[in-house]
Amino acid sequence: MYRFFRLTILVMIVITLTFYLSELPGKTQEKNPPQIIPGPWGEIVDPVAPQKFESDVEKVIFYRQQQMRALSAHFRSLEGIIDYEIPFQGQAIQHIEALNNIAKYLPDLFPEGTAANPDKKGAKDLIWKEPEKFSQHIQGFQKSLADLQCVLNQSGESNNKKTALIAVRHQCLACHASYRVR
Ligand code: HEC
Repeated sequence: MYRFFRLTILVMIVITLTFYLSELPGKTQEKNPPQIIPGPWGEIVDPVAPQKFESDVEKVIFYRQQQMRALSAHFRSLEGIIDYEIPFQGQAIQHIEALNNIAKYLPDLFPEGTAANPDKKGAKDLIWKEPEKFSQHIQGFQKSLADLQCVLNQSGESNNKKTALIAVRHQCLACHASYRVR
């Protein structure tokens, strides 16, 4: 009797473990197997599995987050050039143009109904409760970029460049403080 009991418990543990392991991260990969990318260098397995979207809202959020990451990469590149004097001065203007282009269509990236679910990371629904204030944030961001572009074109004091870059950073952080859950 005691032996039977032990066996049952053991079997139950094995079943629970198997279930638990099948739920681990590999799961998305199973549902979404990696793609083989053929080409002149042979057949290569793409380490990034294709996206799987449950809805159009998820697609918009995905796109918006990619654009935010693009903002971040261009901003950090400028920071490298201006604050850390990494010698790619000639490329600063390309980064500011890229930032300007993304900032221009920022209003389109926030269609109504694309807030994050409660308690999840992402966009707060406050964005759609106070649309005017939100667009003031976008305009403030665009203005800070225009000012930075001006300073960069003048090729003057490096302190002015630093100040103008901080003003851009302030706009990123101010918008996040009010409208982003992280
Ligand atoms: C007008 C508001 C606004 C401005 C300006 C803004 N952001 Fe964002 N940002 C957001 C919101 C809202 C989110 C959350 C979006 C979501 O997850 O759907 C976000 C998300 C992000 C993310 C996370 C993306 C991800 O993969 O989840 C990064 C990184 C980011 N922003 C960087 C920046 C940088 C850098 C700047 C300035 C150069 C900037 N943002 C300017 C509103 C803004």
